Amino acid sequence: MRAVTISEPGGPEVLGWGEVPDPVCGPGEVVVDVVAAAVNRADLLQRQGRYPAPAGASDVLGLECSGVISEVGTDVAGWAVGDEVCALLSGGGYAERVAVPAGQLLPRPAGVELATAAALPEVVCTVWSNVFMLAGLRAGEVLLVHGGSSGIGTMAIQLGVRAGARVAVTAGSPEKLAACRELGAEILVDHREQDFVEEVRTATGGHGADVVLDIIGAAYLARNVDVLATGGRLVGIGTQGGVRAELDLGVLMRKRASVAATTLRGRPATGPGSKAEVVAAVRREVWPDVERGVVRPIIDRRLPMSRAGEAHALLESSTHVGKVLLVNG
Ligand SMILES: NC(=O)c1ccc[n+]([C@@H]2O[C@H](COP(=O)([O-])OP(=O)(O)OC[C@H]3O[C@@H](n4cnc5c(N)ncnc54)[C@H](OP(=O)(O)O)[C@@H]3O)[C@@H](O)[C@H]2O)c1
Repeated sequence: MRAVTISEPGGPEVLGWGEVPDPVCGPGEVVVDVVAAAVNRADLLQRQGRYPAPAGASDVLGLECSGVISEVGTDVAGWAVGDEVCALLSGGGYAERVAVPAGQLLPRPAGVELATAAALPEVVCTVWSNVFMLAGLRAGEVLLVHGGSSGIGTMAIQLGVRAGARVAVTAGSPEKLAACRELGAEILVDHREQDFVEEVRTATGGHGADVVLDIIGAAYLARNVDVLATGGRLVGIGTQGGVRAELDLGVLMRKRASVAATTLRGRPATGPGSKAEVVAAVRREVWPDVERGVVRPIIDRRLPMSRAGEAHALLESSTHVGKVLLVNG
């Protein structure tokens, strides 16, 4: 089959399109003929050689895809050749075919076109596992989403609003903030011009944020703890601003607040805390509202799979809103 290749660690120009070995359908797995994959920030790091694939995963890029099942391995129940699906992957999505553990499959939601469904698994699973399963966001609480116009951010806003929370976002331009407002965000902070601690406190009458979904890491840690309300929960999922910073435990203790951090890719395929557990929760708790159109994938644009380099350059320029799709055929 053909897949996106990496000639050497580097910029978007190192991505090519060429022949690679076909995936092997192991026990408990299916093979999906890929219609589309979506680009994630982590793919850029992997291309640069800074985020290697976990042991046993394909070293082809791509953490999510959509397509049609073309092969079903042993020990798989509930899925058949011809089923239209989308899938959470540990790698391998930027290709014509990919092998996926069956527990990481989701049916194509009714009403969502098959290629578009590729934009859902990574963002819905990340937001659901962190904001809801871990931080337990409740109706009436304030959710602060950093990078509100990102792939992750556009889903976090929608799921926060759906849960009855007041959603605050940071983003880097008035246009991006306008896109966040259209999705239901109420407190809009331009992080290039404004201080999010001050803005969120003012907008909430001094309360702060009950839950913060953070993608910046070290550079925002102190201010994220500052903005937390009493009993607040900070969940880190990205380190765009570094990995090491000092944490003031005194402030945390006074607020009875907590700090956690997770990665989806590092979770095991099955068992407690696994990808399969998150995918099953998403299918049960979120999929019905995706099918009703209450929650929708936000697509910036779609490009042919063979032009993955352009898609990576676009994410690096950070001029997109939502997800970028790579489409086969
Ligand atoms: N842990 C996990 O399991 C997991 C899973 C998926 C994604 N993630 C992480 O989630 C983040 C978003 O991923 P994505 O694929 O959705 O990426 P993306 O669409 O490329 O978004 C990155 C965002 O970061 C924003 N940003 C940059 N500097 C910022 C700052 N100082 N304050 C606030 N926002 C800032 C950018 O907007 P502006 O340039 O306008 O600020 C952009 O919207 C990434 O860090 C990714 O690694 C983690």
